[in-house]
Amino acid sequence: MDINYRRGAPPPPSAQESTLILKLLNRPPRTLYAMRCTVFFTPPRRYPVTPAAVAVVDALRATTSIVAAFERHAAAVVAVDGIRRAVRLRASHRDADAVLCGERGGLPPPGFDLGNSPAELLAHDWHGRMLLLATTNGTRALVGAPAGVPVAAAALRNRAAVARWLAVGGSEDDALVAVTCAGEAHGHVIALEDVVVAGAIVDALVASGARPDDAARLALAAWRRGPSPNELLLAADHAAALVKLGLEHDIEAAAKVDVTDLVPRVVARPDDHCARLEIGERERSSSPRSR
Ligand code: MLT
Repeated sequence: MDINYRRGAPPPPSAQESTLILKLLNRPPRTLYAMRCTVFFTPPRRYPVTPAAVAVVDALRATTSIVAAFERHAAAVVAVDGIRRAVRLRASHRDADAVLCGERGGLPPPGFDLGNSPAELLAHDWHGRMLLLATTNGTRALVGAPAGVPVAAAALRNRAAVARWLAVGGSEDDALVAVTCAGEAHGHVIALEDVVVAGAIVDALVASGARPDDAARLALAAWRRGPSPNELLLAADHAAALVKLGLEHDIEAAAKVDVTDLVPRVVARPDDHCARLEIGERERSSSPRSR
């Protein structure tokens, strides 16, 4: 009998446990507790896991438009999952000042105030105004993101700030954070530009110690293959469609990297078809830093 083993004290670790403890102690703390990150190339109908936080990307153009609206001081953006619903919402809305924005086939639907153009949104001051935005894929992906977890709109323009925001959500040991790409054709088809921007966010996450899974590494490869953000976006099918419509300024606006620290977050879901995004009060007053 071990005479050093006092009654009531926990038993000493077995040889096997000791080996495991030594192994863990020899690993850098980052790999022990680092958050994990994944990318969904199209929005899942049902998320297979519940991430600690989700960033939704529709690089060309919906989430870039949302970021642009806040850069120009919008009070809120309500992402709506259908054109007719957005029209009804505006008609029923007490705030007659609400701006109706969106696209069908890339162009503003009849009766809308504006399209889904980041370049156009950046050209005006939306101080205190609320925008209703209905697009084919981006606003649907936002509305379809899981309820009950923090959700934000991401673009290249705010990608470092989004990565920091995700890292806060994923600060628990081994937490998983996700970037969801909005895709094409009502989210059924992968859009290259979304994967590229997801990769840019993963790049910033990895730099702060996150562990990418296979999907995140694929997105990272799409981003890192270069040559420039503008050329990466221009290689996408959707960019060619925008160029045909004479909307290349939107691609230029979407290709700007880390020009703002603003992270639009879903703050309310008035019903199953819309999600209201806002910027935190402190963020609004301390950092409207746009270049
Ligand atoms: C979308 O949500 O599908 C896009 O933002 C389409 C676009 O306006 O280019």
